[in-house]
Amino acid sequence: MRNTVTSMRTIVIVMELTLAATLVIAQPPAQAPAAGTAAQAYRNIQLLKDIPSTQLIPTMRFISASLGVECEFCHLGDRSADTDHKNTARKMMTMMMAINKDSFGGQREVTCYTCHHGTNNPVGTPTPTGQYSELGAGVFFKPDGGPLAGGRDEVMSQAYREYVAKDRLAGLPTPDQILAKYVAALGGEQALRRVTARLITGTAELPGDVRGAAPAIHVPVQQYFKAPNQWVMTFQMGNGATSNGFDGTVAWIQAANGVVTEATGVTNAPLPPLARVKRNADFYEPLNLKQQYPRLTVRGIENVRGLDTYVVVGVPDGDLPERLFFDTQTGLLVRKSTAVATALGNYPIQTDYDDYRDVGGVKFPYLVRTVAISPADDLTIHVEKVQNNPTVDAGKFAKPASRPAAAR
Ligand code: HEC
Ligand code: HEC
Repeated sequence: MRNTVTSMRTIVIVMELTLAATLVIAQPPAQAPAAGTAAQAYRNIQLLKDIPSTQLIPTMRFISASLGVECEFCHLGDRSADTDHKNTARKMMTMMMAINKDSFGGQREVTCYTCHHGTNNPVGTPTPTGQYSELGAGVFFKPDGGPLAGGRDEVMSQAYREYVAKDRLAGLPTPDQILAKYVAALGGEQALRRVTARLITGTAELPGDVRGAAPAIHVPVQQYFKAPNQWVMTFQMGNGATSNGFDGTVAWIQAANGVVTEATGVTNAPLPPLARVKRNADFYEPLNLKQQYPRLTVRGIENVRGLDTYVVVGVPDGDLPERLFFDTQTGLLVRKSTAVATALGNYPIQTDYDDYRDVGGVKFPYLVRTVAISPADDLTIHVEKVQNNPTVDAGKFAKPASRPAAAR
């Protein structure tokens, strides 16, 4: 099978650094059929026949992560050959689809992960967890048995009321307040709008192999951004340059061998819908989050890398919900989690933004780290230099022509 870094990375998760936005772009392997169904592209597909061929490998990664196993658990050598585990997996797929059809109105509520939770041997019996409150944390009755005012029920409901009140008193800010604080933390709207283009150079850290077992590979990476929504990112791989771009309308990918594919969203799944690519290419995304997410709710406070963060859930039109984590102290965005749909379940992707530094009055994250459930899709960008308002060649973002076969 394919085993070089560039070709194994069936989905390259590419981050764009417009002040903390993530663009997820699937990168088909150089020789892969860009369109077509899985049945057309692979030899022995019995159930996942009609899914786009580009979705097969991400779906496999979803299965592996759900069961906590390597590909070899089901595949020995030739992946089209059947094995016992592969046949069991097919039975499981049929079962899962039937459960969803019969009990969940066809919505994909139950997935492999629902039962397996990272193990190939799911158990049906709960184990005692030893979840007791710490001594001293609960409600005490007087040891002499003297009744507390109102008795047990009164004490318990009082404790409950306090618990609820504490939660409410935590006084979570509104989404508007959180977004406004974010913009202010980045330097304010005026400062943000003074920048209309940006050049970022740095080093990208890619996994050495799909399991993340081999040492990471470091390659130079360059990104150009231009308002309102153009973007191009180039990795200088050993065997040539790989680029991803968006010209405001068309998203494209150029493989190291020079072949250019248009990323048309849904048909090229697991590409995120084109709408997401567009959203993430928005140069002023921090200023436009409210328009990007017609529904925004604050879900509470969660700890991210030791920081208390407000969790804001945004539901964009026609796309999966995203969770944004804003530092309660600084107001900065420290994490964004999203997912890409696969045939059997959503494939979660999480991006952390760290090491914000001031560049001409605007803050920018110098460390952007994306992790997915398969290490194959991990990517870290160590920014070395940010240039505001560089001169950018107007043709920079347009979809290039494929290099002629003779020159590949
Ligand atoms: C739990 C079992 C299981 C695991 C783990 C698994 N697969 Fe699969 N794989 C299957 C099944 C089942 C099919 C056939 C699907 C069908 O018939 O619709 C398949 C089909 C394939 C095919 C198509 C082969 C062909 O030509 O017909 C490829 C390629 C593949 N898997 C790659 C992978 C990779 C890469 C991984 C690890 C990331 C992986 N699989 C992990 C069960 C598994
Ligand atoms: C409704 C719960 C449920 C769902 C959903 C589910 N499984 Fe399972 N699966 C089980 C249970 C329970 C077992 C263990 C059966 C046993 O021990 O005989 C199992 C066993 C397996 C095995 C055999 C493992 C071994 O070590 O022999 C494979 C492979 C497997 N499941 C794959 C999948 C895949 C792939 C999916 C998603 C398409 C999936 N399962 C969805 C419950 C589920």
